[in-house]
Amino acid sequence: MSLLYRQIADHYLIALRDGTLAADTRLPSVRRLMRDHDVSLSTALQVCRHLEDLGWLQARPRSGYFVQRPRRASLPPVSEAPPAPPQPADYVGIHERLSSILARGQARPTPVNLALAVGPPELYPAAALSRSMQQVLRRQPLLLTTMTRRHGHPALKAALARRALDRGIHASADDILVTFGCTQAMNLALRAVAEPGDTVAVESPSFYGMLQILEGMGLRALEIPTSPRTGLSVDALAFALQRDAEEADPARSRIRAVMCMPTLHNPLGCVMPDAEKERLVRLCEAHDVALIEDDTYADMGSPGTQFRAAKSWCRSGHVIYCHSLNKNLAPGLRLGWILPGRWQARVDMLKYAQTRFSEDLSQMAAAEFLASPGWERHLNQMRETLKRQRERYVDGVARHFPEGTRLNPPEGGMLLWIELPEGVSGDAMFDAALEAGIKIAPGSMFSNAPRFDRFIRLACGWPYTPQVDAAMRWLGERVRSMMA
Ligand SMILES: Cc1ncc(COP(=O)(O)O)c(C=O)c1O
Repeated sequence: MSLLYRQIADHYLIALRDGTLAADTRLPSVRRLMRDHDVSLSTALQVCRHLEDLGWLQARPRSGYFVQRPRRASLPPVSEAPPAPPQPADYVGIHERLSSILARGQARPTPVNLALAVGPPELYPAAALSRSMQQVLRRQPLLLTTMTRRHGHPALKAALARRALDRGIHASADDILVTFGCTQAMNLALRAVAEPGDTVAVESPSFYGMLQILEGMGLRALEIPTSPRTGLSVDALAFALQRDAEEADPARSRIRAVMCMPTLHNPLGCVMPDAEKERLVRLCEAHDVALIEDDTYADMGSPGTQFRAAKSWCRSGHVIYCHSLNKNLAPGLRLGWILPGRWQARVDMLKYAQTRFSEDLSQMAAAEFLASPGWERHLNQMRETLKRQRERYVDGVARHFPEGTRLNPPEGGMLLWIELPEGVSGDAMFDAALEAGIKIAPGSMFSNAPRFDRFIRLACGWPYTPQVDAAMRWLGERVRSMMA
């Protein structure tokens, strides 16, 4: 039944989007919907409420549902960076700026946190995971006092190999290493392929945690122009790799790796088209450069969407695939995993040298859940919830922020990348918002260069409450006053 109402709503959405059903016209009555689609009253009402939730309909007392254009449709898209060759690679020197922003953010209480790129505890299957843990300990009472001896529990690795199939990746359990979150996976990947002083090509903007890792390892970042709609510019990367290959001075650092979030990018929220993902893989293979793919948000597309990982096009082992269970399953477990491709033995060694093995209890609980029907149910619910929330947050921006604000509604995930009107600084907004008890992420966190100072990132993983709406109104007013 729930699928039926979506199908009927989608039918009307096409007519609403293309203007066949114009603003202020009346949607066919509920009775007419029941007759035309041969559905019950409750399904017909679900159709109307769903379209109302999406902002396309307005219920008028005793008159029925009328078409309106959702406010979010009036937000123009984020500006595309003008095509330009990448700047020279630079040592990443972001930690002071980042540490200062993070410390300022922690120094005072912020009742409204719009900077957290993770859902609330209630979004995740806490009860099922606790039950699994208790059952595991009952079955194996000596588990916690038994030394772990392997790079990942076999049951979890088998479950992850099955999940990899959803991304189009054919991997065996033996190809997988379990890590402490995606952060450790990225650390291991970079350590396996690069040495201090080497260059790594990254998207611009990029996840600040990854820039911190580059800085920690003494690597240079080459920021590649990245479209807020279609992701990394493969043309710009091709140009950079070609120029690098032609460099006459062998002492100059070479590009050793490309770090990329092709699916549901943080902070942009965009997805690279499949053809570009494939081109990216072929390009890295041709230049014998590692492609480190961060697929952290890939499970969070709108319901029914399925994204292929870049790794799925790779037969040569040049793609190192990194993923996390902290965003989609359980932030408290700190589990992640890596498919190291041709660097398997080196990543194995590095993981052993750095931390030895991950503990078994949380892996076994995660394995049980991933292999159960509960996983698909959880995934569907999480996707529905996040989609609804994204729409409400985007509506909030459209209602409260002034003209000149730009935003691309993301295809999934829990992040909104917002371009502020001319003259408004993301850093100044961050400081002002903190004073008012609201935490946001300024755009300056997402690049080594001062390129994104007119941007902010707002997270939308938590429910859109009246308190969040008030915070959005406050932010919008503040932007307006900064324009003045
Ligand atoms: C794109 C991206 N990659 C990696 C991470 C870190 O993942 P984990 O928490 O699993 O270490 C994050 C966390 O915000 C992220 O946004």
